[in-house]
Amino acid sequence: MRRDLVSVYRCPGTRGILTLRDEVLAGDTVVSGQLVSSAGHVYDIEDGIPNLAWPLQLTEADTAIREFYDGRADVYDRYLPLTFATFSENEDKVRREMIDLLSLAPGQRVLEVGAGTGRDSEIIAGLLGPTGELFAQDISRSMLLHNRERLTGIHQRAHLGVANACYLPFPDKFFDAVFQFGGVGEFSDIPGFFREVARVTKVGGRVVVGDESMPTWLRQTTFAKILTLTNAQFAAPLPLEHLPVEARQVRVRWVIGGTFYLIDFNVGEGEPEADLDFQIPGIRGGTHRTRYFGQLEGVRLETKQLALLARDKLGISLHEWLDGLVRREAEAVLKDKEGNG
Ligand SMILES: C[S@@+](CC[C@H](N)C(=O)[O-])C[C@H]1O[C@@H](n2cnc3c(N)ncnc32)[C@H](O)[C@@H]1O
Repeated sequence: MRRDLVSVYRCPGTRGILTLRDEVLAGDTVVSGQLVSSAGHVYDIEDGIPNLAWPLQLTEADTAIREFYDGRADVYDRYLPLTFATFSENEDKVRREMIDLLSLAPGQRVLEVGAGTGRDSEIIAGLLGPTGELFAQDISRSMLLHNRERLTGIHQRAHLGVANACYLPFPDKFFDAVFQFGGVGEFSDIPGFFREVARVTKVGGRVVVGDESMPTWLRQTTFAKILTLTNAQFAAPLPLEHLPVEARQVRVRWVIGGTFYLIDFNVGEGEPEADLDFQIPGIRGGTHRTRYFGQLEGVRLETKQLALLARDKLGISLHEWLDGLVRREAEAVLKDKEGNG
């Protein structure tokens, strides 16, 4: 871990800054030591890789996933190509096309979540130029050790860290782009993951996320049933309802034989904006905002019918008439009260 990253990483529990202690340095690299938050949370750095996983005591589900990948890391690269071969897909081409959706430029700062052994990290790092930076994180340290091996000699500014996708140890609006492929279905808090992605991405930044999810219209086919028997992840739901409110220009497509979804979006600020304040022509009148925020109690049906007749006679919108009427009456009552008080 590069020493200056101490000021970059955040406590994934409190989002506070961290300080370094008991460090062993080799030049500007922290080989071992501890990152400590002001709340007293301690994160070990071992063989240059910080472990910023949160919660400090992982949930049972996260622990099981971590153990699964720790145990599988040595054979992962041997078996993974089968996923692409099943559908006669060229893995390198598919991965490059997915990464192209990030529209990366040299010098950018990119986060890869659940980076695994680095099959995408290698491609992303190659696109960032000498000044760009890749933060590749994963919950499994063993997977990251393979990732480091793959990136050696490819990029000087690739930073590996153990972390939970649902509690990212980075400041707000830190990355130009975030990429995740193949992990979402295993994350224990998918809405939390997407909230974190929106938090750490700059406004205008790009996000690409993909994982197994058989399209709903294929689920009853023999094709889907055969594949799902071997890999239950194909039955995972498409996580559209968990996308963050900041997601803009969202696109969904299916890749790798049409069995993995790929969602890409730009990150905006807060909720989308619209002009909610223009007068809507017609007999109802008012604006989108007055219709939403200005509702009062209902009236008797006969009163409503009388009001509609009165409105017709006046030739103005119901909004205009009611707004004036209620305001005049309310002001008169308040004035009267003040006078008496
Ligand atoms: C199927 S592998 C995909 C790896 C890589 N992205 C690829 O395409 O080859 C899923 C990865 O997600 C990681 N993972 C699972 N749950 C995680 C979590 N909560 N936080 C971070 N990484 C997680 C696993 O350790 C594993 O490396």
